[in-house]
Amino acid sequence: MKVIQCKDYDAVSQQAANEVEALLRQRPDAVLGLATGSTPIGLYEALVERHRQNGLDFSRVTTFNLDEYYPISPQNDQSYHFFMWKHLFGSVNIDPQRVHIPKGDAEDPDAACLAYEEALAAAGGIDLQILGIGNNGHIAFNEPAEYLRAATHRAQLTEDTIEANARFFDRPEDVPREAISMGMGSILKARRILLLACGEKKRRAVEEMLSGKITTQLPASFLNLHPDAILITDLEL
Ligand code: F6R
Repeated sequence: MKVIQCKDYDAVSQQAANEVEALLRQRPDAVLGLATGSTPIGLYEALVERHRQNGLDFSRVTTFNLDEYYPISPQNDQSYHFFMWKHLFGSVNIDPQRVHIPKGDAEDPDAACLAYEEALAAAGGIDLQILGIGNNGHIAFNEPAEYLRAATHRAQLTEDTIEANARFFDRPEDVPREAISMGMGSILKARRILLLACGEKKRRAVEEMLSGKITTQLPASFLNLHPDAILITDLEL
């Protein structure tokens, strides 16, 4: 895996934005894979800035998000739908028809997972996948486990995560207990992967990943199998 070391979070965000911008200038109809979480917020801010200042065009871009809670309404401010419209889609000229986020309000979540894989294939696959990494090495909702899933699937949240999320919801019964997540296979099919990792909290997972040992107990380690995966980090490794 190629490593690009940056001096701080802002430099990581700008470096990632450079990669996205270079792709969109060359291929205005590119397919982007997107992540939520705190790490890519700086990247999304940089892309909004470049859209406003330099006319970076999203009108023909297609996007696929990694994951979404289930069940959750897209209007809920804790949903990943809400996050994406707040931090990126609401501020660039993206065509809402080309935005794909797993449906947290699907009546039949298993059918929604299959439909998501079909939509990914119909779009011709992901050109550039943006990823964050969990402190425990998770990627999307692929948590350390005895086995991992290849395709988009329903993932059970751990009791710890459910408890930690409870403070964001009005009633305990509203806290999602599941998510819909792309699998490691869906992610590894992307033609290029940018993994953003910032802060000391990520050091253990990043160092274990870079050791090159592949294990389902560290889902990020599977990125070592990808021929064009780039880690952009502010960690001194
Ligand atoms: C988000 C996602 C998660 C995060 C990871 C890191 O769509 O799939 O795997 O990338 O939990 O989160 P932050 O960036 O908040 O440290």
